[in-house]
Amino acid sequence: MIAALYRLFFIVCLTVITAYICLNFFGSDLAIFSTVSILSIPLIYSYINLARLKRFIQTDSVENIPLPSGYWEEVYFGLQRLVKGLKLRIRNIEQQHDHFIEAFQASPNGIVMLDDCDHIEWCNSIAERFFGLNFKRDALQKINFLIRRPEFIQYLNKRSFDEPLLMERMGPNSSLSLMLQAFPFGNNRHLLLIQNVTDLQKADAMRRDFVANVSHEMRTPITVLMGFLETVQSLDLEKSQQDQYFEMMMSQAHRMKSLVEDLLTLANLESNALPASSNVVKIETLMALLKNDAEALSQGRHAFSFEANSNSNLLGDEREILSAFSNLVSNAIRYTPDIGSINVSWNINQDGQGEFSVLDTGPGIASEHLSRLTERFYRVDRSRSRDTGGTGLGLAIVKHIASRHQAQLLIESTPGRGSTFTLRFPKERINP
Ligand SMILES: Nc1ncnc2c1ncn2[C@@H]1O[C@H](COP(=O)(O)OP(=O)(O)O)[C@@H](O)[C@H]1O
Ligand SMILES: [Mg+2]
Repeated sequence: MIAALYRLFFIVCLTVITAYICLNFFGSDLAIFSTVSILSIPLIYSYINLARLKRFIQTDSVENIPLPSGYWEEVYFGLQRLVKGLKLRIRNIEQQHDHFIEAFQASPNGIVMLDDCDHIEWCNSIAERFFGLNFKRDALQKINFLIRRPEFIQYLNKRSFDEPLLMERMGPNSSLSLMLQAFPFGNNRHLLLIQNVTDLQKADAMRRDFVANVSHEMRTPITVLMGFLETVQSLDLEKSQQDQYFEMMMSQAHRMKSLVEDLLTLANLESNALPASSNVVKIETLMALLKNDAEALSQGRHAFSFEANSNSNLLGDEREILSAFSNLVSNAIRYTPDIGSINVSWNINQDGQGEFSVLDTGPGIASEHLSRLTERFYRVDRSRSRDTGGTGLGLAIVKHIASRHQAQLLIESTPGRGSTFTLRFPKERINP
């Protein structure tokens, strides 16, 4: 400011001295001309600098103006500093904004921001996928024009967002269950958070089915057992009749025991750590155990062959592998009518994978059942399964054990001719 006053003072002095000299030596006309000329020098200089400034403002490059000397240098310099500072702040805010957007995009949940009239201000790509939205197209549209499910419109209109809303059959193939909740923020705006709860819902449905199935499976033998007990208690039966009733009670109690044992096996498989791949399971020992059990169960009704075509052993948990193998062998025995034959074999295929196969000449299984056989309590023939002491959990256990050993359960069957159940273990599980 002081520098500017000095400059002004200098120009005024120069003008006065020049005007005085001109007036004394050259007359008044020249004095006026020289005064006007000297006074217009700073005006022209300012005009030139303003024009330059305008040009640089128009191209948004104020910070690149070459600095002139004098008073305008200070103006330009101040302006440049201001513009640089503002641009830096804007860049920082933009970066922060981009980080927020990236974080919201990385969220596994759908996020929609609504303004005070429920127009979409922003949404992430997960929300776009859940609701078939397209942010570029749908920005600033009213959300209830785009998501037209009555329960959603009712939820929004109610304006009470303490509870979440469950929306079923949503998403690309109407296959998703979504849990949605609105949270108020800012000036009467709302943040919609949408969580994909499809797996949770499925697990919940499975749990409910499982409990219903177990109760049903337990109720039958308990009802029969109680019936027998009441009969034995209330009637004066002969010893032989009593023995017959006790035998039938025993068989129902066995049925319950098998069911509880299979349920415990499944529970253990679900809670135990994955089997280590360092324990060697000797196939020869397993084959000997399986042969013993099979002959005891069959009691001479079937012809057996047990072949181990390789000396390679398995790496895994011996108890689990024995349980899976014996489930397959006992199924073959229980479903194959008398005089049928059963082949149990162990091979290493040309890809180095280990294959344990049980082939029988039983009734076979129609193809529509094959994909469901490993579901808990799924049976092709309910009464045959129960008559032979089946629980409906055997193949579910086999499948579980297989997946714990990264093995596959392959089922081939032709109705009327027989079935082959194969467990194929990966190369990494074979001990050469
Ligand atoms: N070797 C087989 N031959 C024919 N059907 C079979 C055989 N193995 C299993 N199944 C069918 O698969 C169903 C499921 O088997 P599983 O899970 O072991 O239960 P279950 O306790 O009934 O044996 C059985 O009920 C039976 O219908
Ligand atoms: Mg079974």
